[in-house]
Amino acid sequence: MKDPITISVTGAAGQIGYALLFRIASGAVFGPDQPVNLRLIEIEPALPALDGVVMELDDCAFPLLREVVPTADLAVGFSGANWALLVGSVPRKAGMERGDLLGINGKIFTGQGQAIAANAASDVRTLVVGNPCNTNALIAMANADGVPNDRFFAMTRLDENRAKSQLATKAGVHHSQVSNLCIWGNHSATQYPDFTNAKIDGKPVTEVITDRAWLEGEFIPTVQQRGAAIIKARGASSAASAANAAIDTVVSLCNPTAEGDWHSVGVCSDGSYGIAEGIIASMPIRTKADGSWEVVQGVPVDDFSRGKIDASVAELLEEREAVKDLIPG
Ligand code: NAI
Repeated sequence: MKDPITISVTGAAGQIGYALLFRIASGAVFGPDQPVNLRLIEIEPALPALDGVVMELDDCAFPLLREVVPTADLAVGFSGANWALLVGSVPRKAGMERGDLLGINGKIFTGQGQAIAANAASDVRTLVVGNPCNTNALIAMANADGVPNDRFFAMTRLDENRAKSQLATKAGVHHSQVSNLCIWGNHSATQYPDFTNAKIDGKPVTEVITDRAWLEGEFIPTVQQRGAAIIKARGASSAASAANAAIDTVVSLCNPTAEGDWHSVGVCSDGSYGIAEGIIASMPIRTKADGSWEVVQGVPVDDFSRGKIDASVAELLEEREAVKDLIPG
């Protein structure tokens, strides 16, 4: 049996936490021979609820679960973390704009970035789920002195999964037949689910779904607005599907990507595809055999795609400007 790895999860008493922790502890993320320690971070008022979650983890008697540490202390919470899953933040409520969230949540991520730098394992990787996740990841990265920028990720996998599901339904195929689906830009209503490069059974989506009006006028807004549609229907934001996407993201970053395919995740831009350097933007990513990742190069960007990507990048630049006081140097 391998040595345990340590996973820190913020917002552990929240609804995504509740859908996420049990799957990590069961082995669904890191495999059936990888023991895990969980460090569960919450704000003080949520610690009683977190105790209940810990009791339920105990009651599962998971063979792979070793230590569980609930805490409101960031130094304790990120101690030795190999993965930091930053889920905790104030979720968007009906009628609330993402811009409102920036100010409320941005400050959380300065302290968490610093605490990760000071306490986590030297190989720590950080996935930000809490919204606005791209800019929160940027703030955490900028405050995590000494941790390389390529260890910070923002979750756009839920958008990728949503997009694959919509395309599969329209084409009458199973969603596993949809590949090469890239979400570009921000995890927000400006995100661009790129149907121009996506494939169904290896064929361009545009050859399988010839209804361009649907692709441009229905598919894109449906994916962009899916989060809002779920809030409207459920009275709460997506949780099980978000936890599932966090798992998919970590699994995709820990295992080599299938030849010719890619996955979507927000990473620190190196300027590829004309995306402003230094912002956290979603783009096509491949995980290599050695466990490192790279931006897939040479994905065609036509005029339609260019306009959509540029609009989402412009929003990310606005977000960065709005939180510039939280970004040192
Ligand atoms: P929730 O409100 O059920 O849980 C959030 C938890 O975070 C609460 O228990 C709260 O006490 C905790 N929290 C707040 N501030 C904290 C801090 N400073 N440190 C540690 N914990 C803190 O919310 P839910 O549904 O679990 O969503 C969490 C976040 O994930 C939200 O920001 C939501 O918008 C985001 N989200 C992101 C998605 C994505 O695709 N990137 C998809 C769905 C949700």
